Amino acid sequence: MKVVTTEKSQVLGVKIARALDLEIVDTRFSRFPDGELYLRTGDLDGETIIVGSVTDTDSLVQLLLLIDACEQSKNTLVLPYMGYARQDKKFHQGEPISARAIARVLSPGVGQIICVNIHEESVLDHFQIPALNISLAPSLGEYIAAMPLSDPLILAPDAGASVFAAAVAQVGGWDCDELQKTRISGEEVRITPKTIDAAGREVVIVDDIISTGGTLATAASMLYAQGAAGVHAACVHGVFTGGAYTRLRHAGVKSIAASDTIEGGASLISAAACIASALNHT
Ligand code: R5P
Repeated sequence: MKVVTTEKSQVLGVKIARALDLEIVDTRFSRFPDGELYLRTGDLDGETIIVGSVTDTDSLVQLLLLIDACEQSKNTLVLPYMGYARQDKKFHQGEPISARAIARVLSPGVGQIICVNIHEESVLDHFQIPALNISLAPSLGEYIAAMPLSDPLILAPDAGASVFAAAVAQVGGWDCDELQKTRISGEEVRITPKTIDAAGREVVIVDDIISTGGTLATAASMLYAQGAAGVHAACVHGVFTGGAYTRLRHAGVKSIAASDTIEGGASLISAAACIASALNHT
């Protein structure tokens, strides 16, 4: 069994291979003169673990090409970040269910799939093969435990993230709450923890995805106004689009950590051990 990765998941792929004591396949990526993507893998084995996040159109096409190149082997697809998963229903007439479209196109040629903190578990049903979702909540908890914070308050940015936040908080037995938005007027909203006073507390807001950082930046400013001693952010998938990282820092967020499901400078937490453990049990 060998591990092969797309270009944007190279570091995570190597870490997974190391954790499983497997060989990483030397794969080269380039483009044809007209811009089309090209890749060529080294020697494959009878069984292959394909690692590739869908972060944009190119990474999706590259992953499709890679699955096709692995046609001779029995394949497990590790999909650390599944872009398009947030469009998991038709919000308006005429829209696609993008998550379904992506799941359908990734299924052929793959025997099973492992996702990491997929936006909605129901998206797994769109794959035409067995699909498993694993959570990095314990890894985020371990990361927070190593931060120099005493008695942090773990906050979910909304009710939807509260189960995830509770799993993170469980690692250290920390207080946990969710942020609640109250509309004061047409223009004004107030964001406060539902039950716990943030005054004087070091707060860590945890979420599955930080995309524009809009929710977190507003929440951070309001938490400081309520007397929080410090606001930190940790997430699984650091999309950080449109300058989100700088936006959060500008809003006073003291530290921002993401995992390597999307590889980048803020990838301070690795999903490798968790993925390797899931692979060992499938
Ligand atoms: C929403 O349901 C997700 O869990 C995240 O809270 C959301 O995607 C974050 O988006 P943004 O960073 O753009 O506020």
